[in-house]
Amino acid sequence: MLQERRALERYFCRMQRIAIFASGTGTNTVRIIEYFKGHSSIGVSLVLSNKADAPVLEKAKNLGVESVAFNRGEFYDTNDVVDKLQAANIDFVVLAGFLWKVPDNLLKAFPDRIINIHPALLPKFGGKGMYGMNVHRAVKESGEAETGISIHLVNEEYDKGRMLFQARCKVLESDTPESIAAKVHELEYTNFPREIELFVKSNEIA
Ligand code: GRF
Repeated sequence: MLQERRALERYFCRMQRIAIFASGTGTNTVRIIEYFKGHSSIGVSLVLSNKADAPVLEKAKNLGVESVAFNRGEFYDTNDVVDKLQAANIDFVVLAGFLWKVPDNLLKAFPDRIINIHPALLPKFGGKGMYGMNVHRAVKESGEAETGISIHLVNEEYDKGRMLFQARCKVLESDTPESIAAKVHELEYTNFPREIELFVKSNEIA
């Protein structure tokens, strides 16, 4: 019954296709792919990485999602990556631990359709150099009582696009940058796929 309904929904409404960009481990990417498996109107169609040996590429492949790598020249000096996204009919781009600045041609091809996650409460601990463990170390050193995640749209400035969602967790005196990272990752796993779904559903491309 459920399968029949999903097939009908697929037939009548156009699937919204997501591409995920990631530079490293890809634990969020895995959660997002799994969340949308069998979804009636949203699917992850492509995973891209700036690192040919990034574990995320293998993980995506194992989950049945096409995955490709590109280099700096292809990303910044050609339109290859945008061409690839358009050839795959991608509607929304998700950055899940993607470390390179998004170039203008990509921003223009997906205006207000690129979503990023940042592992802190922006505008605090954002900007250049603020990624991965650097963020959690800075949070610890500054003695903050809380940290969290920020899910936002991407524009020309690092970490400054429209905020879609934030969630918080406490930072205890006993916390280390590693334990802060673990708490933040949990918040990401719980909230990121659902927030992507909400955003895509309210901005569907006909
Ligand atoms: C996440 O904490 C994300 O917020 C940040 O990079 C990390 C990626 O982790 N931008 P993973 O590759 O999904 O495990």
